[in-house]
Amino acid sequence: MGTESEIHQLRRDYQREPLDLASFHDDPLVQFRVWFEEARSAGILEPNAMTLGTADGSCRVSCRTVLLKGIDGGGFVFFTNYGSRKAGQIAENPQAALLFPWIALERQVEVAGRVEKISEAESLEYFLSRPFGSRIGAWVSEQSSVIPSRDVLVSRFEELKKQFADGNVPKPEGWGGYRVVPETIEFWQGGADRLHDRFLYSRSDAGWKISRLAP
Ligand SMILES: Cc1cc2nc3c(=O)[nH]c(=O)nc-3n(C[C@H](O)[C@H](O)[C@H](O)COP(=O)(O)O)c2cc1C
Repeated sequence: MGTESEIHQLRRDYQREPLDLASFHDDPLVQFRVWFEEARSAGILEPNAMTLGTADGSCRVSCRTVLLKGIDGGGFVFFTNYGSRKAGQIAENPQAALLFPWIALERQVEVAGRVEKISEAESLEYFLSRPFGSRIGAWVSEQSSVIPSRDVLVSRFEELKKQFADGNVPKPEGWGGYRVVPETIEFWQGGADRLHDRFLYSRSDAGWKISRLAP
């Protein structure tokens, strides 16, 4: 009970100046980069950490954090295991949402759209840029499967380190990137008295349309 009352007393009044729509770029990806740089300069821990929401073919929803590794081909790219729970959901239902929770800046950005696999060549290029331990790690873990103990992972890691002692660690076939190609991107910023600003970019045949949403 004590804890509950403490939780409901948590309250923060947002202090930022209202956003000016005229200062927003026509292209939401350009605008995203502006906010991303501001998040980075503000020292936000892992500014590229984003919550990825997916749903299976029966509309059962789940979410988890992944790291944004680039914006290219018109979308937001992350890397993962193609045998994981999220990959299964994406195969059944190739739609996803991403959320960047930059709370220290009183901001969030939500991206929603279609998910596609990036090319093998793109995945390979990124894989080869990863440190040795991370490349080995991609081989160790059958992500999202049940394992009996942590020891299984550690001994497999040690085995693989020996196997690839020359440093040449090939990319596992079942590891690679996905791109979320946005249909909508919403920029949210907190304001005083809960009068927050929300700008929603929606894709249309004529390009991006920007609307202001009620907070
Ligand atoms: C800060 C942070 C970053 C993460 N980055 C990734 C990532 O880039 N790719 C990934 O597959 N999992 C990443 N994870 C782990 C995922 O949140 C998740 O546990 C894993 O991908 C399995 O998800 P699934 O079972 O829903 O497929 C990260 C977790 C945290 C907390």
